[in-house]
Amino acid sequence: MKVIHVKNQVEGGQVAFSLLKEAIANGAKTLGLATGSTPLAFYNEVVASDLDFSEMTSINLDEYVGLPKDHSQSYNYFMKEHLFNDKPFKESFLPNGLATNLAEETKAYDKIIANHPIDFQILGIGRNGHIGFNEPGTSFEMTTHVVNLEESTIEANSRFFETINDVPKQAISMGIASIMLSKTIVLMAFGKDKAEAIKKMVSGPVSEDLPASILQKHKDVVVIVDEEAASALVKS
Ligand code: GLP
Repeated sequence: MKVIHVKNQVEGGQVAFSLLKEAIANGAKTLGLATGSTPLAFYNEVVASDLDFSEMTSINLDEYVGLPKDHSQSYNYFMKEHLFNDKPFKESFLPNGLATNLAEETKAYDKIIANHPIDFQILGIGRNGHIGFNEPGTSFEMTTHVVNLEESTIEANSRFFETINDVPKQAISMGIASIMLSKTIVLMAFGKDKAEAIKKMVSGPVSEDLPASILQKHKDVVVIVDEEAASALVKS
C-alpha cells in the first residue's frame, strides 16, 4: 500500500488523475468508479482533460435501493452530473436500485463485472471503514449483494437529503471479492472524519470489522490523503 500525502482535495484529484492517465497509457479499458464527495475533484480533472472514454467501459461500485435513476441523490444521477454528461463511455454500468428482483440484479451485476475485469478502481472510504457499501462485518468473500446500511452511514449520507428519513435504508454494492480483483486501486480520503478509518486501514489488523483493511493484501493500491485524513497515521 503506497500512501501519497497531498495538501488538499484538489491536489488529491490531480494525483489520482495522473495515475488514471498512466493506467490508460498502459492499456486500461475498464474503470471502476465511485460516488460521494471524495472523488469530485478527480472528476473535475477528468472532465477538464482531453481524455476520451468512448472506447472504454465504466462500472460503478454501488447504488441505493429504491431511488429512480433521475432522483438527484441516486448514484446514476451523480455520475451523469459529474462525469458522463461531459465524458461519455462506450458503456457505463451501475446497479439498478429499482430492480423488482434484487437477487437477480446482484447476479447480473456479477456477470457484468466478470465480463469486464476492472483495470483501475477509484475508491472513497466511509467513516466506519466501508468501501463501496460494504459495511463492517461483510465477508471478504462477498460479491455483489444487497446491503442494509448502518445507522452511521445513513446519518453520514443524510447531509445530501432533505431529512434523514429520506435516506434509503438499503443499497446494492459490488462486493469486496470483486473490488480486490481490480488491477490497480486508488483510494482517496480527505478530512478529519476519515482519520481513524485511514489509520486502521493502513496499519490495523486485516479484519472484516474494518472492510478497507483488506486492501493491505492487494498488490497495487495507492492511498491519497490530505493532512487531516492522515493525522492519525504514525509518522515514519
Ligand atoms: C458512500 C459511498 C462510498 C463512499 C463513502 C464516503 O457511502 N457508498 O462509495 O466512499 O460514502 O463518502 P464521501 O466521499 O462523501 O465521504
